[in-house]
Amino acid sequence: MDMRPIGVFDSGLGGLTAVRSLRQILPEENLVYFGDTARVPYGGRSRDTILRYARQDVRFLRSFDLKAIVIACGTVSTTSLDTLQAENDLPIVGVVEPTCRRALLVTKNKRVGIIATLASIRSGAYEAVLRRLDRSVEVVGKPCPLFVPLVENGRTERGDVVIETVAREYLEPLKATGIDTLILGCTHYPLLTDVVADIMGPDVTLVSAGEESAFELKRLLKAGGLRADESRRGSAEFYVSDQPEDFERIASVFLREDLHHTARRIDIDQY
Ligand code: DGL
Repeated sequence: MDMRPIGVFDSGLGGLTAVRSLRQILPEENLVYFGDTARVPYGGRSRDTILRYARQDVRFLRSFDLKAIVIACGTVSTTSLDTLQAENDLPIVGVVEPTCRRALLVTKNKRVGIIATLASIRSGAYEAVLRRLDRSVEVVGKPCPLFVPLVENGRTERGDVVIETVAREYLEPLKATGIDTLILGCTHYPLLTDVVADIMGPDVTLVSAGEESAFELKRLLKAGGLRADESRRGSAEFYVSDQPEDFERIASVFLREDLHHTARRIDIDQY
């Protein structure tokens, strides 16, 4: 039994959608979440900058005695996972491979679409993993750079003319390619599920990055004898790099549950 916490991070609060899955699938584990709210979004930045930020995020989390880390960010997972794994002597799980495995289980016509940040699409990481797992799959990727800022500003609801207009512009060409599965390759995007589903229609199944990572982590913890005592309820602590005002309300939207935790602000430049 190992009661040490699991570190989880994202460029902002999108990674809380992965925390939601972790709390459902590994309810006994203690979590320490860091959202780099002072520097979100990462998705339009270069790989070098994203890696530099991600290294700082990991260094902050490792100031706790962690047993594993979940990169709850598509952008960091697609650009920096291998480097972070090579530099750190603890299990690190990203969102790409588990999400791709799920998508391949779901697709029937072997045409899979991916929407994600510019950095993620540019990296080609989702496409590379899908093709490694199944050579016959056809992959269509589309960067959606306006989605993260809109989600962070609460423009997520059906009927919101701004998000619906932007989403139609991004998604209608994707729909026309005949995909039957769409990977929401950024952990902010599950908040747009209704809007995206309305445009893609009932014949396209949505697969969210982040949700599957919890299963992957569970397997890893079990294999390494690192599970916490399953009879308990784990705790969660939240840290951000900008003003934590309103954190409770905004985090509750991402977690889809009432959160009664505040977040503490840390100076990420010190790491
Ligand atoms: N949640 C991050 C991701 O999954 C958002 C990226 C960003 O900060 O642009 O990619």
